[in-house]
Amino acid sequence: MRPAENTSLGPYTTFGVESRARFFSPFRDLTELTALIDWGVGYPLLVLGGGSNLLLVNDVDGLVLKNDIKGITELHEDNEYVYVKAGAGENWHRFVLYCIERNWSGLENLSLIPGSVGASPMQNIGAYGVEVEDLFWDLEAWHIHDRKLVTFTRSDCGFGYRESVFKRKYKDQFVILNVTYRLRKKPRFNTSYGAIEQELEQMGVKQLSVKAISDAVIRIRSSKLPDPKEIGNAGSFFKNPSVPVPVFEELKTRFPAIVGYPNAGGTVKLAAGWLIEQCGPQPGTSWKGFRRGDAGCHAKQALVLVNYGKATGKQIYDLSEDILQSVKLRFGVELEREVNVVCS
Ligand code: FAD
Ligand code: EPU
Repeated sequence: MRPAENTSLGPYTTFGVESRARFFSPFRDLTELTALIDWGVGYPLLVLGGGSNLLLVNDVDGLVLKNDIKGITELHEDNEYVYVKAGAGENWHRFVLYCIERNWSGLENLSLIPGSVGASPMQNIGAYGVEVEDLFWDLEAWHIHDRKLVTFTRSDCGFGYRESVFKRKYKDQFVILNVTYRLRKKPRFNTSYGAIEQELEQMGVKQLSVKAISDAVIRIRSSKLPDPKEIGNAGSFFKNPSVPVPVFEELKTRFPAIVGYPNAGGTVKLAAGWLIEQCGPQPGTSWKGFRRGDAGCHAKQALVLVNYGKATGKQIYDLSEDILQSVKLRFGVELEREVNVVCS
């Protein structure tokens, strides 16, 4: 199969910035994938899922492959768990809803996260007190160079906060083909994240269920995060940075309102949204709600950078750099981008 040439990638990423791929093709299975990899030898390769954690800074002078491997299979079950395998190209939220309909528990706190199943282990997606590493069983991935199928168990993946080996050590080496999750048959609810309890109360929920938690999470997320169908964005642009406890205490004396959550290992995770909100393009101004051309910082969530329409990837990247520098100058804390920046 021959890929299309000079394809606009705007519709394939949630930032919606204009960028053209020299070559582009979807693939539906391993046979199509390997044929495309063979065809593209010598060209840089970029694998796309739902494009919801990507910023394309310019055109991609290579081969872009969109993962369209579908299918959800219940592999087996024991007394406590069901093992469910999903194709990497399945939509994440649809997969979560599939599990909720069957009353399998574990993924409900991760409702409404955009993107594909295949990308879920890439950065160990997380929200509302749960990360996929808590439910992950294994995955199968294709090693591009060695041309072989490799199975990764949980301990092989090197999961951390928005981290895995696929983002670091094995960056660009594997294409994830499918992921298996281990879900509880008897629900165990996680409402530790404060906003969930409040939302359930407001919803008048008397009896907890995976569906009720999913609905609460969907309501919270919809009230805070911009819908990429309306305003281009990729969720949190930066990670929440961790600092040693003494550094946090020193910051707290200078900035008493600073928001931080204790981590294991003697560190404190700072709310990057708060840090960004306290800084701005000029002294006394805030990035929150700031707009330069069509690139901006969301008015309800300072951690989310947005494309109001025709921003370029470079304009969004430049804004992120200005934000990063201003936070560093004011707080001495260096933010790290969560979004994968692709610059060819
Ligand atoms: P893409 O953006 O397509 O790809 C991300 C990276 O993974 C790229 O480097 C790509 O090359 C690589 N990749 C993708 N698929 C494969 C594959 N099959 N094999 C190998 N490499 C692959 N994230 C959270 O963790 N928590 C949240 O709460 C959250 N909320 C969000 C809210 C909004 C509104 C948005 C827009 C994003 C949010 N995100 C969140 C970020 C994003 O949804 C996740 O990171 C998601 O997993 C990305 O999936 P994707 O398929 O869109 O990946
Ligand atoms: N805050 C501000 N100003 C802002 C935004 C946030 O002061 O503009 C402060 C508030 O004190 C707030 C705190 O930051 O209570 C935390 O904000 P929020 O609950 O919105 O969560 P977050 O830390 O900004 C993280 C994840 C999200 C995830 C939510 C819920 C990261 C980088 N982001 O956001 O994940 O959905 O928690 O668990 O860890 C993503 O990764 O793309 C993403 C959206």
